[in-house]
Amino acid sequence: MRIDGRDYRTIWLDPDGRRVHIIDQTRLPHRFETKTLASCEDAAAAIANMNVRGAPLIGVTGAYGMALAAWRDPSDAAIESAHALLLATRPTAVNLRWALDRLRALLLSAPVSDRVSLAYAEAAKIAEEDVAACQAIGRAGAELIDKARRGDRPVNILTHCNAGWLCAVDWGTALAPIYAAARQGIPIHVWVDETRPRNQGASLTAFELLGEEAPHTVIADNAGGHLMQHGLVDLVIVGSDRTTRAGDVCNKIGTYLKALAAHDNNVPFYVALPSSTVDWRIADGVRDIPIEERSPREVTHISGRGADGTPIEIQLTPDGSPARNFGFDVTPSRFVTGLITERGVCAATEKGLQGLFPDLAG
Ligand code: MRU
Repeated sequence: MRIDGRDYRTIWLDPDGRRVHIIDQTRLPHRFETKTLASCEDAAAAIANMNVRGAPLIGVTGAYGMALAAWRDPSDAAIESAHALLLATRPTAVNLRWALDRLRALLLSAPVSDRVSLAYAEAAKIAEEDVAACQAIGRAGAELIDKARRGDRPVNILTHCNAGWLCAVDWGTALAPIYAAARQGIPIHVWVDETRPRNQGASLTAFELLGEEAPHTVIADNAGGHLMQHGLVDLVIVGSDRTTRAGDVCNKIGTYLKALAAHDNNVPFYVALPSSTVDWRIADGVRDIPIEERSPREVTHISGRGADGTPIEIQLTPDGSPARNFGFDVTPSRFVTGLITERGVCAATEKGLQGLFPDLAG
């Protein structure tokens, strides 16, 4: 996708073929900076500190983290310890485990002398697969947006968090259909939930949509229900960090409340995800998906740009008030109208997912 007229992906390999570059998402939208990852520890820190974030991108960064580890030491012990280090960074997005398991299985079954080149090739393959999956999600989702057209007025789509190209390698998941629809000339307007506490909507989704010249409006997280009651939302599209084989969807905290409001107002609620986000081992998302709890400081404080342009952080809560910071919630499948995947749209049910992915469902 484009920034200042130049095409970028969120992660790319240095010309040395070993070090990895990322866009530092903690600096957006006010500063565009990149970071270099030269070791597995750098990759783990970038995931934990959310320099990179979003389920597909966490998976790809994990894969490159394994490659960086193999570059330093391709032994079995080093590969096992890199897998453990990277897996411990963030617990909810299943794409991370999926990518790490894939690299570990490949490397441990290969001769030690081949492991470095195999690791980099596999990480690049995962990245390319992600781009292709997101493009296919875009095509499938754009058809839904087209069907939601009513006369000449723009289709109003509400989204939560950032599930655009910054959450993946390119294109994104929930925003891919929006980008595809806009390129097809379908008039759209996006309601962007600010997405407290880290404000990925206000900072990252708004930044992306601005770059794509896509009409959008940032709203407080609590505004969605009101907009739906007044007919101002035609459909909701969000991403997912982990979806169970029965179609329960885990996504950024606050997604569940949007699904409830959509259900009450007969607004279609779609979830866009590549198959790497499906956890085929579990069915009950509320019971079985680990929910990340992050530092309370992300709730008690807020950061942004000061009047003089410098980054600032300010405190919102009184000294001494305890806070808790749950990163994700689970929307039960009964509130999900459909899943938009790289193989098309299906019901958020075991049967629906099995129908599209008989090779993965087991
Ligand atoms: O905490 P984050 O910013 O990594 O959370 C990201 C989300 O919740 C996205 O909506 C999710 O990863 C889906 S994007 C494929």
